[in-house]
Amino acid sequence: MRDTRHGAARRLVSTLGIALAASLAAAFAPVAATARAAPQDAAGAGQPAHAPRQRLLLDDGWRFHRGDPDGNSGPYLYDVRPEVTVSADGKVADAMPEEAARVARAGTPVLKAWILPSGNAFIRDPARRHARPALDPAVDAPYARAGFDDSGWRAVTLPHDWAIEGPFLTTGPYGGMGRLQTWGPAWYRRKLDIAASDRGRKVFLDVDGAMAYASVWVNGHLAGGWPYGYNSFRIDLTPWLQPGGTNQLAIRLDNPPESARWYPGAGLYRNVWLTKTAPLHVGLWGVTVTTPEVTPDAARVAWQVALDNDGSVPASATVTTELYVLDEHGRIAGKAVATTQSGPATVAAGASVIVAGATTVVRPRLWGPPPTQKPQRYALVATVRQDGRVVDRYETPFGIRTVRFDPDRGVVVNGEHIPLRGVNNHHDLGALGAAFNMRAAERQLEIMRAMGANALRMSHNPPDPQLLDLADRMGFLVMDEVFDSWQRKKTPLDFHLIFPDWHEQDLRAMIRRDRNHPSIILWSVGNEVGEQYTGEIGAAVGRELVAIAHEEDATRPATGAMNYAKADMPLPGTVDVISLNYQGTGIRTLPGQFPMFRAAYPDKVILHSESASALSSRGEYQFPVPGVLSAAVRPGAGGDPATRQVSAYELFAADFGASADRAFASLDQNPYTAGEFVWTGFDYLGEPTPYYEARSSYSGIVDLAGFPKDRYYLYQSRWRADLPMVHVLPHWTWPGRAGQVTPVHVFTSGDEAELFVNGKSQGRQKKAPYAYRLRWDFVTWEPGEIRVVAYKDGKEWARETVRTAGAPAALQAQADRTTLSADGRDLAFVTVRIVDGAGIPAPRARDRVRFTVEGPAELVATDNGDATSFESFQAPERAAFNGLVLAIVRTRAGAGGTITVRASGAGLRGTAVTMHSKLPASKAGTPEFQPRIISQM
Ligand code: GAL
Repeated sequence: MRDTRHGAARRLVSTLGIALAASLAAAFAPVAATARAAPQDAAGAGQPAHAPRQRLLLDDGWRFHRGDPDGNSGPYLYDVRPEVTVSADGKVADAMPEEAARVARAGTPVLKAWILPSGNAFIRDPARRHARPALDPAVDAPYARAGFDDSGWRAVTLPHDWAIEGPFLTTGPYGGMGRLQTWGPAWYRRKLDIAASDRGRKVFLDVDGAMAYASVWVNGHLAGGWPYGYNSFRIDLTPWLQPGGTNQLAIRLDNPPESARWYPGAGLYRNVWLTKTAPLHVGLWGVTVTTPEVTPDAARVAWQVALDNDGSVPASATVTTELYVLDEHGRIAGKAVATTQSGPATVAAGASVIVAGATTVVRPRLWGPPPTQKPQRYALVATVRQDGRVVDRYETPFGIRTVRFDPDRGVVVNGEHIPLRGVNNHHDLGALGAAFNMRAAERQLEIMRAMGANALRMSHNPPDPQLLDLADRMGFLVMDEVFDSWQRKKTPLDFHLIFPDWHEQDLRAMIRRDRNHPSIILWSVGNEVGEQYTGEIGAAVGRELVAIAHEEDATRPATGAMNYAKADMPLPGTVDVISLNYQGTGIRTLPGQFPMFRAAYPDKVILHSESASALSSRGEYQFPVPGVLSAAVRPGAGGDPATRQVSAYELFAADFGASADRAFASLDQNPYTAGEFVWTGFDYLGEPTPYYEARSSYSGIVDLAGFPKDRYYLYQSRWRADLPMVHVLPHWTWPGRAGQVTPVHVFTSGDEAELFVNGKSQGRQKKAPYAYRLRWDFVTWEPGEIRVVAYKDGKEWARETVRTAGAPAALQAQADRTTLSADGRDLAFVTVRIVDGAGIPAPRARDRVRFTVEGPAELVATDNGDATSFESFQAPERAAFNGLVLAIVRTRAGAGGTITVRASGAGLRGTAVTMHSKLPASKAGTPEFQPRIISQM
């Protein structure tokens, strides 16, 4: 079987499929036909199998090992890599990207030729697709063999990030990548029991993300792979599997050093699935749903279903679609609200045909961002019949909404202008590393939502697909981004190495995977790429990528984030929406560029894809406080090189950035702008500007542990203007500062406030135009309390009191939720606060806190949000940072009961918090968390 397949040239079949209009309330659009890259499947010869699709979660049962046999990676290299002679660590983020190094590869055997065909489905021009070499590579890979004894390897469950365990690399040029070793080869092995009844079916491995340069081996044979660590991909295992027995799957990863400006994570860090289908089946991400006409009375829902025929005989297929309302958990609710039935379409062997249709939903329940709208969704269920028998069923959640980009106002969703109040986030989940966890991501979005955020930029790579499900469910607007570099490099071994071979596949793959998410409003084809600097040559690359985005999705605009390209340069002309990083406010001495872009592009929406890059360490206040509104961090002015902490007065920023206040003013002074995506919502691992000796960033509005910094309330005061709130800083526990000037700053959604120190008024202040904080810069510290009373329209609006704390005396614990799911994935985030004898938070306490867990759960991580901490994230004990420490506890699968988390510390009154872990009502799990798991293998 293998020889036939490998020996024969690819047979690419172009077939015109036909779909007929024959439906209930439906009219069918013309049908497209494509040539498919997938070869005929010898295993599928003969009669098609009749079993419908199965999607099996493959997260259990893996064995893991770091390194190659005998430490020799030579035989497994995807391609020759340039030698890294100069580290990029610590380079300022907006440094000009450099030209790629040229590498001589003559004579070195590499695996690229066997990996490239895995991307063929995403190469539009059949002539440019890659034929698999006739023979297997000349590699005898012991770790891929079925007979290899892996019992000494570590047993792991996915998602798995092996790098988060450290140890931290406390010296050397590793700050940018988080001071954790993410590079070097690693292998994962798993047995696959494939039933004899699977003979004749297609079996695919679907990987949501693998970091990086994955090669997939089946029973010792290299089946394919995917280099880019952030994209999801599919490998057809069918030709190498032996149904009726145990098969051996092995995945090798090989993340390069110096491959990122932040912590990329490592390993099989997202879900992995086994998908089994009949030879005739819906293709990968093969259903596209659009809503070309939407009014309050009716919405037109158009769909396209790509049918792949991997069998050896032509198939005659019909597609039935049913539309259902989804409830808030993503479950189908009630009966179908619309049904359509296609006429027969013929799909030749080895070909793919798109069947298209449309239907009408009466009085549609629209999807839109809260608080003014509701994120309501539908699902389209496509049922494929071959000769009358059901051969596939495929569910696609989607939303009905209109999004208009209005150059004079910004983004208009369902007729309502929605200012973008967005944040950028990298993909790591703090102490959990890059291993995706739905609850950890949900907690992040809940924290953002409570601040008033309504938008997310996936900087700078395709996220875990579940994060987009979450954004759909919670109603965030999303900018989905594919690359941080194109041909020119930012770090020596970043994506630029494979851009020439893979940009088309990676961009098309992201869009095909993600285009049904109602949350996505905009595609970004790149971030601050080096091609901004290369005039027309760079613009040509931008034009190509934007054209691909348009081909894959005609319903959304495409953009690219620009920190250097100016209004009179070629690159901005290639994008539909002008996305500026920092230069809208102004970079260093460069004045704000919004007006220049507005003048040059009056017909394009302009937004701030990165704003602020303000820096701070939670609870660290440094004196004296300069009387500035915004300044770059400098020693003694915002930053302390000795402690590597940045002042929390929230006035300081990266050299090219600005305080939140200054960024707000630049938007308000240019009211046509669509809004902003702040750099960043959360601190992330790596890129610890300005102190590259640290492990994690300082730019988060919220620290790495998920504890809000003061800045959180500045954003809340603007983004939730109707919420009565006031926040005062700093804390008021300053033994040793008696009589010294200790400025007090206040963030409020009111317009005025009065400050009292021990009952004495320090005066009442009103917000000036384009000012967003109230400040009393000459307050003298004395122990006691500060009280602030905020007013709106002359009436009291909110108040807050902060008191001087005594010595740390006790611990207080709080869990984010009291009821958890006993699914082995759900998490509790337990915050422990150190307080004095009277229960007043001790804002500078750094006492060590130890956690123990009783009941059906385990402690998986601890953190304190201190960017300079090199304590292991897995340690059960760690020092508090400015009064707070976090424990993350995971439930045990299948074991319900009471979970008790105890916290103790020397000389402190200990505490405990209890939660209940509940067995899921049905074995299928929570639909929202695993929307389409049929069973677990
Ligand atoms: C930007 C860049 C981001 C990040 C940020 C740091 O220039 O796009 O990825 O590096 O600066 O402030």
